Amino acid sequence: MMAALKSNRGSAAILGAIAWVLACAGCAPAPGEHYPLDTLSPKSDLTRTFNDIFWRITWIDILILIVVIVAFFLALFVFSSRVGEPGEPSHKHHDLWLEMAWTIIPSIIVVFITVPTVQAIIRTQPDKWPPDTLEVRVIAHQWWWEFRYPESGVVTADEAHIPVHRTIHFSMVSRDVIHSFFMPAIGGKRDVVPGQTNSITLNADAVGQYWGQCTEFCGDSHANMRFRVFVDSPEDFAAWTKHQLEDPVKPDEGLAAAGAKVFADAPCAICHTVRGVSGFSKEYTYGFRGPDLTHFGSRGTIAGAILDNNPANLARWITNPAEVKPGANMPTLGLSGQELNDLVAYLESLK
Ligand code: CUA
Repeated sequence: MMAALKSNRGSAAILGAIAWVLACAGCAPAPGEHYPLDTLSPKSDLTRTFNDIFWRITWIDILILIVVIVAFFLALFVFSSRVGEPGEPSHKHHDLWLEMAWTIIPSIIVVFITVPTVQAIIRTQPDKWPPDTLEVRVIAHQWWWEFRYPESGVVTADEAHIPVHRTIHFSMVSRDVIHSFFMPAIGGKRDVVPGQTNSITLNADAVGQYWGQCTEFCGDSHANMRFRVFVDSPEDFAAWTKHQLEDPVKPDEGLAAAGAKVFADAPCAICHTVRGVSGFSKEYTYGFRGPDLTHFGSRGTIAGAILDNNPANLARWITNPAEVKPGANMPTLGLSGQELNDLVAYLESLK
């Protein structure tokens, strides 16, 4: 009987070990793969704070896990005799010291977690922002992100630029449903709620491009609501801002010129701004509109940052928006082949 029991335990242990290895293999990164939404590679003061708290809690958890597992196996193997068998353990109902220990130790752990968390909350309050803080307005739409810079007047979509080593205040509103602004490397995550302004404030410390993604289910194309934040050197950021403020190109010959006419005649201009040509000059939070296209050609992605910005993808997007992004407000325009080519040439010329 005991032999059978021991052999069962042995099999269970081996199976458990195999399951553990398989589970770990499933989580392990394949060599060389890129993880754009990795939460463990902080690149700003804010995400370093998050990571410090995360690792502090994780190490405490690991310690608790080890203690629990050791206690569990001790109970399993050392005190495994059945009732009536020799060596039956004593039955105890109270132990003052034990009960005090498991009340005091968790209280100390809670203090270890609470103190840095509250410190982080205090550190990121509005009165702590330096005077040269740059505000970036984030307006969430089904299913794309609008970025506005009140300081300069720049308006763009799905690709924000910010300078490195400067405090950035993302103030966020939604024009339709609840979204969530998630940029794990530099900003963590915050819900974007209609009728309310939420904030993320950060100071990025490494030049680079960082992916973001909507993380609150917001309709058919929730998964197709991505964005990128480019952290630029101060010089590159100034150059980008200057370029974005320039008037859009006005082609006067070739496909692009014909495309400008298609743009004005087709319904594009009803929803999309090309500064000086069409659209809305003022920000408003509610009501439908499409992305500002003034410098569309300077962006690397289209359609909620799910496609690279190139003529083939743009033609695909304009021809059948619903195929690319189910539920998108962008209508099917029914353009002829020539009109489509012209329009694509015009939009891509808007560098
Ligand atoms: Cu927006 Cu999910």
